[in-house]
Amino acid sequence: MIWWHTVGDMDVRPFWLAGSPATGDAELTVTNPHDGRVVGVGSVPTPDQVEQAVAAAHAVRKEAASLPIHVRAEALAHVSRRLSERAEEIAQLISAENGKPIFWARGEVGRAVATFRFAAEETRRFSGEVQRLDTEAAANGRLAYVSRQPYGPVLAVTPFNFPLNLVAHKVAPAIAVGAPVIVKPAPATPLSALLLGELLAETELPAGMFSVLPVPNDRAGALVEDPRLPVVSFTGSGPVGFAIKDQVPRKHVTLELGGNAAAVVLADADLDWAATRIALFSNYQAGQSCIAVQRVIVERSVAEAFTSKLVAAVENLVVGDPADDKTQVGPLVSVEAAKRVEQWVAEAVAGGARLLAGGGREGATVAPTVLSEVPEDSKVIREEVFGPVLVIQPVASVDEAFAAVNDSKYGLQAGVFTRDLDVAFRANKELEVGGVIIGDVPSYRADQMPYGGVKESGIGREGLRSAMQDFTYEKVMVLTGLTL
Ligand code: SIN
Repeated sequence: MIWWHTVGDMDVRPFWLAGSPATGDAELTVTNPHDGRVVGVGSVPTPDQVEQAVAAAHAVRKEAASLPIHVRAEALAHVSRRLSERAEEIAQLISAENGKPIFWARGEVGRAVATFRFAAEETRRFSGEVQRLDTEAAANGRLAYVSRQPYGPVLAVTPFNFPLNLVAHKVAPAIAVGAPVIVKPAPATPLSALLLGELLAETELPAGMFSVLPVPNDRAGALVEDPRLPVVSFTGSGPVGFAIKDQVPRKHVTLELGGNAAAVVLADADLDWAATRIALFSNYQAGQSCIAVQRVIVERSVAEAFTSKLVAAVENLVVGDPADDKTQVGPLVSVEAAKRVEQWVAEAVAGGARLLAGGGREGATVAPTVLSEVPEDSKVIREEVFGPVLVIQPVASVDEAFAAVNDSKYGLQAGVFTRDLDVAFRANKELEVGGVIIGDVPSYRADQMPYGGVKESGIGREGLRSAMQDFTYEKVMVLTGLTL
């Protein structure tokens, strides 16, 4: 069957409609943010095709929920294996469509391999539990079997910053629990999700179990509203996420939103390690991660020594062409995004901030930037920059440091560089975030661990086991008259 056609000298990539390739009636051109070259052409589904995908997901939901564990686990393991076999090609695709340096794109593919592998392993363990009820005389001979049932088809709305692994974090747990999934990838970076569709299509999963529909954002509202998709899992900006929640308050909505992540550097920290890690993870993916370091809160007694190490480390970063193996910092997703970051830095400087490094922009690339003496109400402190910008804030004590971390509308993850175990436990108790990383940056994420925020950073948790719980509800069956 021939299901593609050509635009210019490029094949139009099909989308995935209920597990089969299809093309619509419009094209979506994807360009490389670094040099503007066209890296692929996708096809946009028609409203009728979207309807077919939703109807298929709805129709297959009972069969999906009843799929034997080994079928789900084998499908997930297959995708993991195939991602690994095609790793370099996929990394090149991620780098080309997103502008992410190839070094980080390879890392993302490695993580997606693990994400699908963890899901395959976790699905084999997802067996429910039994509870004896004869803890009270009235329940003699009674036993509860507590299982988890999928709510039903999942709408996965995914962002541009990890165009493969953040899709994996929704698709893999959905399949693991037996829920059909419809992916709406970010318009800037749909190609990695389409390639993932290709790997899913190689499995024995039933038709309707997955669709990948690169519909424009202004058509996503209809999918969000559709009652046949009872779960919406969204990763992206706060305003869009909370608008979804407000639009469908009765649906099960998971939101992975933004942050202005803080790294706390205390006087007992290894300053060289802290400076190197913070420099790198403020700027990785050009700061376009919800847990990229944005604020460095440093104890005053070491602030001067630490700042000079940090600025040196930032200035040592290799900025340039994302296709180059050595590049650590590449472009933002678009020139518009880079201009917005440049503007926020300029506003901070106009308000009295000192520019210790960077500040410039070339096309979509913003130079790694370090600011100090930044006015408290600046956007670069208060809002999510989503760019390679770091703000240094000296404090007098641990108490002040923790108060500064919590002085934020966000609460995703925080890093605390200390060697004091007691302070580590205090941080875990006092910091208003979803994750505390001791001895490293807030940007650390292992794909199997719970991941998500408090405050305006979101609702719910990802990480395979957590997302599997999130896509399911507990159901109890009571057995009576048993000999226990
Ligand atoms: C995010 O930007 O929220 C994802 C970070 C990650 O997966 O490392």
